[in-house]
Amino acid sequence: MEKKKPSHLPIGAQEILNTVTDGIIVIDEDYKIVYANKCFLKEADMAGGDVIGNYCYRVSHLRDEPCDPLLESCSVEEVIKNGKTVKVIHGHYGSNRKEMAVEISSSPYQDKRTGKRYAVEILRNLGDGSNAHLKFNLSQRLSEVGLLAEGVAHEINNPLNNILASVEMIKICFGNNEIIKKEADNALKGSNCDIKKYFDLMEQEIERCKDITKKLLLLSRPVSSSNDIVNVNSEIEEAITLLSFLAGKKNVMVKRNLLENIPLISFSQAGLRQILLNIGLNAIQAVQDEYGIVYFITKKVKDHIYIFIIDNGCGISSEDIKRIFDPFFSKNKETTNTGLGLPISLSIIKSLGGSIEVRSKEGQGTKFIIKIPINSNFS
Ligand SMILES: Nc1ncnc2c1ncn2[C@@H]1O[C@H](COP(=O)(O)OP(=O)(O)OP(=O)(O)O)[C@@H](O)[C@H]1O
Ligand SMILES: [Mg+2]
Repeated sequence: MEKKKPSHLPIGAQEILNTVTDGIIVIDEDYKIVYANKCFLKEADMAGGDVIGNYCYRVSHLRDEPCDPLLESCSVEEVIKNGKTVKVIHGHYGSNRKEMAVEISSSPYQDKRTGKRYAVEILRNLGDGSNAHLKFNLSQRLSEVGLLAEGVAHEINNPLNNILASVEMIKICFGNNEIIKKEADNALKGSNCDIKKYFDLMEQEIERCKDITKKLLLLSRPVSSSNDIVNVNSEIEEAITLLSFLAGKKNVMVKRNLLENIPLISFSQAGLRQILLNIGLNAIQAVQDEYGIVYFITKKVKDHIYIFIIDNGCGISSEDIKRIFDPFFSKNKETTNTGLGLPISLSIIKSLGGSIEVRSKEGQGTKFIIKIPINSNFS
């Protein structure tokens, strides 16, 4: 049987593209959208006239300038300029200006007639979520871990307290009872066995376990109050003061660029401090001694305050970035790192209606964006 050539579409391409249930757009070298199918317009909740000829960063990211290609994958940069095909997950704004997670496949296309180059993007909506690639699975994972953690933390905390009390009692008995002390000293003479050192080590390690269980409880019940009236800039100054000892020790520069007359917000002061310290500390830990710079920046974007914490440190690989909000995920070698700083921060911010985003390039740096809603009563 003669095979038919698959090259010609039986009906108009336009109709076909409009029946697809994923968004499709074509972007030119100047970041302008030159085509959008029906699904894209529906999800962006915009009319064709507002999208065609408009900039992609304005339509999808509500930005006034192109996205920073150092910190996130940009179709114009990677697909048009470098001719690559990329698959990424971004946070895009959809109807009601709500952020949603979108999986994007972007391929290069060159018009043979004019020689002009374009990026053809297919966008699959992964659901609501201001944290783009992190949020959709994460919130569920986190709440499950939180529930589990609460039970485990309670169960472990009681025996730990008993063990700690017993160790302390043994130390007291040894210290106070001359006969036992003498017997033990005689028995261990010349054996290099420093009983006090081992007891101290036991105490130290039990305290560490208790600290972890305390953090686990925080994960399941982040913060109870959002009723403090908080000046974000003052909290950042406070956090910088607390971090300055460590920053000074590493000779890391901490800079700030804080919005004047920043609106007050209704939030948990303790919760915000914890988030700033966790993320600020991570930034200091990620940068190199002497060359490290950590920026704290505040901006008002519509009805949110954005806090940027940016570092020029080691960055996070695309593999690891999916896991940094997982409880106990840690690449830090220090024994004091538990891998709970970020999951706790996310848990707090989510319980208070905010969000955290992260952009990173391995070897170049990381940008965390903490978004906090402004309560109109105070602004
Ligand atoms: N600014 C950053 N630059 C590079 N990597 C980072 C940055 N922030 C977080 N990470 C990575 O994410 C991991 C998880 O961070 P998280 O704060 O949850 O845990 P931790 O810092 O390792 O431990 P803890 O916060 O309990 O001390 C870190 O171990 C690190 O690998
Ligand atoms: Mg940390």
